[in-house]
Amino acid sequence: MIMEGNQNPIFNTMKASLKRPSWAILLLIFAVLTLFTLQITNKSVFPIQQSFSLAARDSSTGFRGPKSCSGFFDEVPPRKVVKSIEEFGGVGDGKTSNTAAFRAAMAYMDSFKDRGGAQLNVPKGRWLTGNFNLTSNFTLFLDEGAVILGSQDPKEWPIIEPLPSYGRGRERQGGRHISLIHGNTIRNVVITGQNGTIDGQGNMWWDLWWNRTLEHTRGHLVELISSHNILISSLTFRNSPFWTIHPVYCSNVLVKNMTILAPLTAPNTDGVDPDSSVNVCIEDCYIESGDDLVAIKSGWDQYGINMARPSSNIIVRRVSGTTPTCSGIGIGSEMSGGISNVLVEDLHIRDSAAGVQIKTDKGRGGYIANVTIKNIKMERVKIPLRVSRGANDHPDKGWDPKALPKVKGIVITNVVSLDTRKAPLLEGIEGSPVEDICMKNISIFGLSPSMKWKCEFVSGSSYGVFPNPCDQLQRNGSTSWCS
Ligand SMILES: *[C@@H]1O[C@H](CO)[C@@H](O)[C@H](O)[C@H]1NC(C)=O
Ligand SMILES: *[C@@H]1O[C@H](CO)[C@@H](O)[C@H](O)[C@H]1NC(C)=O
Ligand SMILES: *[C@@H]1O[C@H](CO)[C@@H](O)[C@H](O)[C@H]1NC(C)=O
Ligand SMILES: *[C@@H]1O[C@H](CO)[C@@H](O)[C@H](O)[C@H]1NC(C)=O
Ligand SMILES: *[C@@H]1O[C@H](CO)[C@@H](O)[C@H](O)[C@H]1NC(C)=O
Ligand SMILES: *[C@@H]1O[C@H](CO)[C@@H](O)[C@H](O)[C@H]1NC(C)=O
Ligand SMILES: *[C@@H]1O[C@H](CO)[C@@H](O)[C@H](O)[C@H]1NC(C)=O
Ligand SMILES: *[C@@H]1O[C@H](CO)[C@@H](O)[C@H](O)[C@H]1NC(C)=O
Ligand SMILES: *[C@@H]1O[C@H](CO)[C@@H](O)[C@H](O)[C@H]1NC(C)=O
Repeated sequence: MIMEGNQNPIFNTMKASLKRPSWAILLLIFAVLTLFTLQITNKSVFPIQQSFSLAARDSSTGFRGPKSCSGFFDEVPPRKVVKSIEEFGGVGDGKTSNTAAFRAAMAYMDSFKDRGGAQLNVPKGRWLTGNFNLTSNFTLFLDEGAVILGSQDPKEWPIIEPLPSYGRGRERQGGRHISLIHGNTIRNVVITGQNGTIDGQGNMWWDLWWNRTLEHTRGHLVELISSHNILISSLTFRNSPFWTIHPVYCSNVLVKNMTILAPLTAPNTDGVDPDSSVNVCIEDCYIESGDDLVAIKSGWDQYGINMARPSSNIIVRRVSGTTPTCSGIGIGSEMSGGISNVLVEDLHIRDSAAGVQIKTDKGRGGYIANVTIKNIKMERVKIPLRVSRGANDHPDKGWDPKALPKVKGIVITNVVSLDTRKAPLLEGIEGSPVEDICMKNISIFGLSPSMKWKCEFVSGSSYGVFPNPCDQLQRNGSTSWCS
């Protein structure tokens, strides 16, 4: 486990330098000069490569080389048996259904789970298929030019039980469509390759959603339930009908070096949604979609409260991308099982509705605690930092209006936002204010002088924040935990 606390030397160094009163002013002058000498166009002033390489040295530990989540996934031995989908009758012409071939392949692979494991190779070609389920000690490997295509027949995405922490499908009552690639109680699984593609062909599903004829909640591209030690890497996932990668009730999941794409108008096509899961790391990914790039969740209202399965030890690092309607990183709004120990760092978010957003509502219950968000670059993001309430979105009439979420201990540092449209908006819930927000070294540019931070039912501290934050955050130095 590689986790980074707030007590590391970089914070102590900052603490020392923050004692000098001129620090904030110097920083501001420096930042303003740097930014205004740059010709600000709609091109990125923070090329992705650069923001990745900046993160490559961990100055706090002196460790050279990129900080990495390798500890989240235990390496697996080479598999005893390696087969190609063609050996199971697969035809990669983009038209022939390979559902039977994939299911036969998986049944065969399953027979090796306790005999050294197996690997299924998908060669170059276009492999149309309905849902199939993964097994343990298994690797799915997509060659360069291999494309798995999601079937356009909803019956090939059969209906399964709703998740107990949601009580129903997220979009419709009752069951929900299974994901294209599904795993339940599996261990030691790798989904990787040479930038092959898994394309959900979600257009049909988005149409059903838009024209309100969707009968059951849409399926994910990849969903893993109650699974352990999973690696998803080096592939392109496209056009998921719904949230793209959904690990729920899982432990030790690593999503690395992935490209995740969906049209910017495709509804609810979140990139990665760790849900009631522990030890999840999302690293070195490019994501563009019609919803949150990453959204951390833990169940919905009374169902999530009853199940009480938190998301904890979550790292999101070196992720970049765009979502014109949603946020770069979202926490919630389904957070009823609790969310804690989250580290988000080295994000680059451009052309998006929100940068970092914490979403709650009455009825959610649960908590969000100990969240550190640092080194965030944003360009043309409408609202860089937001705490919002009132998603007003409940599973059924059984939700408890007295179940108020508790949000406490949110540290946000080293943020630069250019061409910003709106000032931060932080809104806690009456009767359950957001506590212990700590904002340091935050520069938000592009706002007209009339744009002010808006805060309600929040409290905390701030240092070196431009423009001046709301009064609720101006307790300079009175709380030692933030400085
Ligand atoms: C960048 O600006 C050019 C010309 O001003 C415009 O055509 C293009 O759509 C813009 N791109 C983005 C991502 O806003
Ligand atoms: C997977 O393989 C490991 C050895 O690498 C073995 O201990 C474990 O029992 C196997 N899992 C299953 C489900 O057979
Ligand atoms: C896949 O898993 C689901 C849920 O666990 C199950 O209902 C379905 O029958 C499985 N499909 C196959 C082809 O085994
Ligand atoms: C990332 O994925 C690409 C293919 O998508 C691969 O060529 C490259 O080696 C991977 N990088 C790492 C560090 O694994
Ligand atoms: C992988 O493919 C995607 C989609 O074609 C592309 O955007 C991305 O740059 C590729 N990644 C690498 C490492 O080649
Ligand atoms: C809704 O969209 C689906 C999928 O494209 C289509 O088959 C169906 O005819 C549409 N229904 C209406 C009422 O527009
Ligand atoms: C807070 O979260 C970090 C990881 O983000 C973890 O290392 C640290 O131990 C947590 N602190 C507490 C008090 O749980
Ligand atoms: C403040 O944030 C900027 C931008 O992320 C960073 O370059 C700078 O090093 C930070 N300053 C301190 C004292 O950490
Ligand atoms: C905190 O600092 C800001 C500027 O650095 C100043 O305007 C404000 O009055 C201070 N607030 C308190 C409560 O000292």
